[in-house]
Amino acid sequence: MTRFISRAPVRRLTRLALLLGGLLAAGAAAADTPAEALIKQGEYVATAGDCVACHSAAGGKPFAGGLAIATPLGTIFSSNITPSKSHGIGDYSYAQFERAVRGGVRADGAHLYPAMPYTAYAGISDEDMHALYAYFMQGVAPVDQDAPRTALPFPFNIRLSMAAWNLLFLDKHPYKPAAAANAEVNRGAYLAETLTHCSTCHTPRNALMAEEKGSNLGGSSLGTWFAPNITSDAQSGIGAWQVDELAHYLKTGVAPGKAQAAGPMAEAIDHSLSHLSDADLHAIAVWLKQTPPVHDAQDTRAAHQWGEAATGVDALRGEARPANPDALSGPQLYDAYCASCHRPDGRGTPDGGLPPLLHNTALGRNNSDNLVMAILRGVQREPAAQAVNMPAFAPLLSDTQVTTLSNYLLTQFGNPQMQVTPERVAQLRAGGTPSPLLAVARYGMAAGGVIVLLLLLWGWRRRQR
Ligand code: HEC
Ligand code: HEC
Ligand code: HEC
Repeated sequence: MTRFISRAPVRRLTRLALLLGGLLAAGAAAADTPAEALIKQGEYVATAGDCVACHSAAGGKPFAGGLAIATPLGTIFSSNITPSKSHGIGDYSYAQFERAVRGGVRADGAHLYPAMPYTAYAGISDEDMHALYAYFMQGVAPVDQDAPRTALPFPFNIRLSMAAWNLLFLDKHPYKPAAAANAEVNRGAYLAETLTHCSTCHTPRNALMAEEKGSNLGGSSLGTWFAPNITSDAQSGIGAWQVDELAHYLKTGVAPGKAQAAGPMAEAIDHSLSHLSDADLHAIAVWLKQTPPVHDAQDTRAAHQWGEAATGVDALRGEARPANPDALSGPQLYDAYCASCHRPDGRGTPDGGLPPLLHNTALGRNNSDNLVMAILRGVQREPAAQAVNMPAFAPLLSDTQVTTLSNYLLTQFGNPQMQVTPERVAQLRAGGTPSPLLAVARYGMAAGGVIVLLLLLWGWRRRQR
């Protein structure tokens, strides 16, 4: 009690200091001219849209372009979108900039390839579009340097063919708030469906590579990593997550005791989502919780509700190991490579810094690719506070070992209905380095390619008749 009283004046002083600090900060914010405020807003929109992820090459200057994007149709290079008048978009008028970002047409009238996700950006509001323009013209440093030219093979080098694809896939209407939803849900929907575009990864695709609207956010493979079902369904999706857990996951990559973000999701969080305001992340989470549920009959409980703590690892310590490393058992592999961090019983550390493997979505889904990918590639994120790093085990473990280990983990800590095969491990190992929004680019291009080929085939058959 006495301690409490003696501390009171200190607290009051702290509060006063905070108040003064707040006033000063408010003063500084008020000093922003409308033009500066607009540029800041534009910077925020650019971060939410993750323009920098595609428009910067490794080690290159921000927005100077030149990133080589491998697509099914060939390599595409992103453009220099700094305000350089000679090499960038310094001469773009607002109307030209708007047409490029929302309509996929360059200033010279040529069509952009859908590796640039203009179909998602088509929904950007006029207000955000103006802010984005102000930022790129005045807030970005010009870089006088050419990005390499894209040269795709025939027929994909005919940029006009993308006009056909636009007819099918480009909805040119800016995002319209739903009258029935409140302001927060509408804000969440706007961010999720236009700028951050969760569905490009999380929605399954049809034969034309277009998103299946009926299973929006129902889960989709990105080739190696699997973007899980994030609809409001309680078993198959995130229906059993609290709004705050979702917002925390989007900000930091962790929902304690449930899930950690690795691979493309970790990159989306590092570059883009972790920089959004708490209010915006809350809005996305609230919106997510009211998306139409997509249920898979295989899912009898939520992905984070599987598994028991292990009891067997201690018993086998000191036991002789088989001479052939591929004959090591699941518990032996776990003991050798994982238990030091995830603990022999699989419960992780008490603070969750080293996460539990039971009640972990990576082991409870009806798709086990992310478990294998996490083992092969590890987990890397760079949140502001503390970097997260699980080593990659691809160089250490054979396909047989990864298979044995995964199947032990699924049975012990996860969904025992799932099994991993050495063939799948080999495929995932060979799958190349997946990249963040590059999944978006690849999908766009694959879809464009399918359409162009179908049109050619159609024209050819008509000529045959
Ligand atoms: C998924 C990757 C990706 C993202 C994200 C992306 N772009 Fe692009 N963008 C590209 C590619 C690739 C091109 C070149 C396409 C081509 O050559 O047809 C391009 C072209 C452009 C162009 C045309 C420039 C020119 O004259 O060639 C503009 C303007 C542009 N992007 C602006 C943006 C803005 C603003 C954002 C963020 C809101 C953004 N981009 C996000 C991949 C991306
Ligand atoms: C570039 C592709 C990509 C984009 C864009 C993306 N995600 Fe993800 N997301 C993934 C992948 C892959 C995982 C699995 C990560 C893992 O298990 O480590 C994931 C996992 C998640 C999870 C955890 C689900 C679980 O069961 O563990 C949530 C929630 C989520 N994403 C929400 C979102 C939201 C909301 C957006 C848009 C604001 C979004 N994602 C954008 C690829 C993506
Ligand atoms: C050096 C410590 C360390 C070792 C050793 C380690 N991990 Fe991890 N593991 C981590 C950290 C750190 C994370 C991510 C925590 C976070 O995201 O906050 C993680 C996350 C995971 C995840 C969740 C990934 C996702 O996408 O959701 C799985 C699964 C996993 N580890 C399995 C394993 C297996 C299997 C082994 C043994 C082959 C192993 N770990 C060895 C530290 C380790």
